[in-house]
Amino acid sequence: MASAEISSWRTRDRVQMPVYTDAARLSAAEARLRASPPLVFADEARRLRAELAEVAHGRAFLLQGGDCAESFEQFGADQVRDTFKVLLQMAMVLTYGAKVPVVKVGRIAGQFAKPRSAPTETVDGVELPSYRGDIINGFAFDAASRLPDPDRMIEGYTQAAATLNQLRGLSKGGFADINKVHQWTLDFTAEDKAAAYRDIANALQDTLDFIRAAGLTPTKSEELATVDFYTSHEALLLEYEESLTRRDPMTGDMVAGSGHLVWIGDRTRQPDGAHVEFCSRIMNPIGLKCGPTISNDDLKVLIERLNPANEAGRLTLIARFGHAQVAEHLPRLIDTVTQMGAHVVWSCDPMHGNTIKSASGYKTRPFDDVLGEVREFFRIHAEMGTIPGGVHFEMTGQDVTECTGGLRALTDEDLSDRYHTACDPRLNASQSLELAFLVNQLMRDGHAAARDAATA
Ligand code: PEP
Ligand code: CO
Repeated sequence: MASAEISSWRTRDRVQMPVYTDAARLSAAEARLRASPPLVFADEARRLRAELAEVAHGRAFLLQGGDCAESFEQFGADQVRDTFKVLLQMAMVLTYGAKVPVVKVGRIAGQFAKPRSAPTETVDGVELPSYRGDIINGFAFDAASRLPDPDRMIEGYTQAAATLNQLRGLSKGGFADINKVHQWTLDFTAEDKAAAYRDIANALQDTLDFIRAAGLTPTKSEELATVDFYTSHEALLLEYEESLTRRDPMTGDMVAGSGHLVWIGDRTRQPDGAHVEFCSRIMNPIGLKCGPTISNDDLKVLIERLNPANEAGRLTLIARFGHAQVAEHLPRLIDTVTQMGAHVVWSCDPMHGNTIKSASGYKTRPFDDVLGEVREFFRIHAEMGTIPGGVHFEMTGQDVTECTGGLRALTDEDLSDRYHTACDPRLNASQSLELAFLVNQLMRDGHAAARDAATA
């Protein structure tokens, strides 16, 4: 594939992208990124594709989660570590339920650019361009901050590199050692799900003790001491994405070097548009958000464009309909995919269709609606005999108050306490773990039903 083709998106209609006013500074920023090392490498992207192929066949489960929007200001080692830790805890709970490996993918180290529902925002009669994420413009409500600044791409790249460096250290350097499973629980002692979590941790510890006592020192002990952790983000800002794309010298394939998996948002999935064009040129695993407005015909065209060779692991469809609409739309999409014989991973994003404005004025997501959509997703797949392959959450390891409900019953009035998101409301650590327990239960029910069906 000629590398000129990686620029082909530039001839297509683009939506949700900034108009940079200073062409010289934009070119300079792109040139710097082109000269910089990529953040991820072809072999890693291929490995994730292979693992997602296992998910597509029902032999693994996908857990994807992290911030709605990473922020320059709230960046720090504690934040990265805590998000990583909660994802590991969720993965452990899920592994326990699914009895299959959990593929762990963060919305992290590049999740900076945001599509918005309106191009401008008006406050007290003043109209300014909308905030589009820290890699594009500033959150502060003044004209200078809201002007798209290409140098922000360099800052985004630098922060993503530092984040990924820390994640690589955490996943390979001992922190993720399964023998330390009890240490991860320490901060949870006051938490509502602590007991249930400790039960699983204890069972795991028993298993490890048994293996050792039986003299079966795991020969591949490195596999228990480290985890594979992948990064992902929405491929929205295509100047950034293109500038970090590299040709794999081994295969000639183009590899987005900005993250292992990138996805196309629900607002930028026009079959002839710039974002689909860009993603059709790279070999990374691709996610496609599917909301209520996607037609069956569009889905068909998108699958053909994004995965022409119909390889399992290339394409993950991320359903995000809202708890009240999932039953109306998911079955028709599943039918479309089944009729095509297309290999996809089905994942459930129960966040983006369940956003409401609370009485107190904050954007929030009622935890029950989030749970409701996950339940429906599993129910529909069970009914249709297809595979509920994964889940996609907006969450943080911090103790924020952004989504209402959960075991601690956060109310509208509580939202103002610690509402820190730069964009959409996230599940906090406790709500994330609670959700993992629900998914664990749904998977166990699914296995039990499948076993019953097999023996009936
Ligand atoms: C997101 O994942 O933050 C997002 C904007 O999602 P969607 O494209 O599904 O609305
Ligand atoms: Co979001």
